Amino acid sequence: MPVTQFDNPEKYRYQTGFLANLETEAIKGALPIGQNSPQKCPYGLYAEKISGTAFTAPRWENQQTWVYRIIPSAAHSAFERVSSASRLELNFNYIPDQLRWDPFDINSDVDWIDGLHMVAGSGDPALKNGVAYYIYGATKSMSDKTAFYDADGDMLVVPQTGPLDIWTEMGCLLVRPNEICVIPRGIRYRVDLVANEPIRGFILEVYNGHFQLPELGPIGSNCLANARDFQIPIAAYIHDSSSEWKIYSKFHGRLFSAKQSHTPFDVVAWEGRYYPYKYDLGRFNTIGTISYDHPDPSLNTVLTSTSNAHPGTAIADFVVFPPRWLVGEDTFRPPSYHRNCMSEFMGLIQGSYIAKDGGKGGFQAAGASLHNCMSSHGPDASTFDKASNEDLVPVKVGVGSMAFMFESYYMIGVTDWGLTKCRKLQAQYSEESWGELKDLFQPPNEAKMEMDSI
Ligand SMILES: [Fe+2]
Repeated sequence: MPVTQFDNPEKYRYQTGFLANLETEAIKGALPIGQNSPQKCPYGLYAEKISGTAFTAPRWENQQTWVYRIIPSAAHSAFERVSSASRLELNFNYIPDQLRWDPFDINSDVDWIDGLHMVAGSGDPALKNGVAYYIYGATKSMSDKTAFYDADGDMLVVPQTGPLDIWTEMGCLLVRPNEICVIPRGIRYRVDLVANEPIRGFILEVYNGHFQLPELGPIGSNCLANARDFQIPIAAYIHDSSSEWKIYSKFHGRLFSAKQSHTPFDVVAWEGRYYPYKYDLGRFNTIGTISYDHPDPSLNTVLTSTSNAHPGTAIADFVVFPPRWLVGEDTFRPPSYHRNCMSEFMGLIQGSYIAKDGGKGGFQAAGASLHNCMSSHGPDASTFDKASNEDLVPVKVGVGSMAFMFESYYMIGVTDWGLTKCRKLQAQYSEESWGELKDLFQPPNEAKMEMDSI
């Protein structure tokens, strides 16, 4: 079966269907029938609309959800700045070097919010234009009666270590390594550990629009990530209108908090197509060559955030490299040497990656690399030598492995934390990868004679 065998068993039920208009009730009859805003909602609930796109956005991209809750989310104190959260601020250093990081640490005694570090990004959430990449690591659940939301963009979360138990306004998600989830802009949620297992992973935040499935073109109507495999929570609620909750807001790279005397997880029913969801990367239907040459990695796109200004160009693609068969004849099977107008941030969830040695100091699980706009890269010397001389029999690569890429249209800047404070940047990455590439040029004798005569 094309599903991941997870260590942690599933604990929730879900709806399915990417961007489907869904409806769900924790109590039968809580959802108004035939209208969104009746004079009195069932059971004394309040109606609240969450718009993920402009009211007037075209139907294909319009996303909104009506929630029916015990207390409206507007009921909270003024937000106060949390001054200790500089790790989330937008301070990008743009440099052309190839960069690679050793596995990132999981600091002790931190929760989801304290354990979020922006490592790179570009653009400005105030203009809803750009991306940011984060590393998260935590050893404890969020404090009791706290929740978080990100006004800056959608977060695509890629767990590497430990499962995330996420309670959102729309219901609960268990997200384990080899699964991903997307939490849209503005949705309140909290992250708890499962059995105190530490968590670590990567986040792609997109300031523009929302993620979509890539167009399939000549591939046809199935393959890559299929719409039916995306899982969406069912409504679940807490009835608590008397204790103090703290709501954290990430707003333009700054952290704020406000108090309220009710839980944000009080949605009894909802309907719409603006909601969090998860996806098992083990279900990805990988396409590749069955003849020759190495296809572009766009063939491995799970989700894309497209640019309206440049059709066919993504603000950010989320791309994976699952276990797959390589059968190309007379072919250098790893990626070739290349320079890309797009910027490539890669991470490894587990295992090793075809183009890079996974040994100590190499491209390791929980580590990452960044090959920026037009920064040259490709296989390291040992991988080139091996791939140039191996027998081209069918071989299954990436077994037990999952690498991924955040590929962006933007030039990507690296934060001070990413460059220095995290202390994981490999100083010798470029030299160790490509410094040992040999001159293998063997011109025919006639060509040599011509050169000598010039
Ligand atoms: Fe590349």
